[in-house]
Amino acid sequence: MAFDAARFVSQKIGELGQYADGNAIIATSGGVDSTTAAVLAKKALGRKLHCVFVDTGLLRKGEAETARKNFKKCGLDVKIVDASSRFLNGLKGVTNPERKRKIIGGLFIRIFEEEARRVQAKYLAQGTIAPDWIESGAGIRDNIKSHHNVGGLPKEMGLLLIEPMRDLYKDEVRLVAKELGIPSDVFSRQPFPGPGLAIRILGEVTKERVEIVREACAIVEEELEAAARKRKMALPWQYFAVLLPVKSVGVQGDVRAYGCTIAVRAVEAADGMTANYSAVPHGVLHKISLRITNAMKDKVNRVVFDVTNKPPATIEWE
Ligand code: XMP
Repeated sequence: MAFDAARFVSQKIGELGQYADGNAIIATSGGVDSTTAAVLAKKALGRKLHCVFVDTGLLRKGEAETARKNFKKCGLDVKIVDASSRFLNGLKGVTNPERKRKIIGGLFIRIFEEEARRVQAKYLAQGTIAPDWIESGAGIRDNIKSHHNVGGLPKEMGLLLIEPMRDLYKDEVRLVAKELGIPSDVFSRQPFPGPGLAIRILGEVTKERVEIVREACAIVEEELEAAARKRKMALPWQYFAVLLPVKSVGVQGDVRAYGCTIAVRAVEAADGMTANYSAVPHGVLHKISLRITNAMKDKVNRVVFDVTNKPPATIEWE
């Protein structure tokens, strides 16, 4: 049976009413999942819902500003918490992907707890969707990755969890967003993972390495969106850059260089559970490579394109 977004919305608003006996807090990242969950919860809980946006310092270029504008468009009043130095300090020296996810998830919860205490919240609402907990190994499935809003949750967090969208897939969330009147530039945004750029940096997360991958991601986004506008290709489902933990030899002018490698990832998917790599035209890849290596001449001297599907790979590299 086709998913009925209107029915889902009215049913969930009714169900969420049972949590109106106390204040609730929700972390909104500006992405489609958490924004939709926040608008849904706002409809049911009104002023009892407190929205928080955590600037982890692991966001894409201009993301905090875009999120601020989008919240306004959606009628959400959101408190912005700058926690970038806490995240960078917490990740110092950590290279293991699961440890990164656990540290980030733990810090998110710590910050929500602080905000929750401030507003005396009883509930924590989250925009968790089905792939988040399925891939975090709930029950019978293997733990592929601890999605930060599931696997990173400390057991004793002192807040009751509300997850109104935990049975939905991404395409259904977009239908719900549309139904709720969320502007299309919010719900048609490509997905961005909760742990942010940290899982697009293989190896240690440092301020300098965040800046490299942030710039590379911005270039990949700009070039693929420009190519789609010019109808050279369809816009992929998700597209970004990854900073690899290897350096390779190159040449800068006539001098030997030893620089970082960026991988470009672009995939087609319906819900992110499986994916095929996108056939990005060579001309577009060429331009991305030129722009990345020119913008970061002394840092990046090699760009590669990921031609792996999911499975056997995953979409993100960590
Ligand atoms: P993977 O890499 O597991 O990603 O194939 C599938 C989709 O999920 C996103 N992703 C996350 N989303 N928290 C999120 O909210 C996370 O921890 C997380 N990890 C991966 C990923 O970007 C892709 O869209």
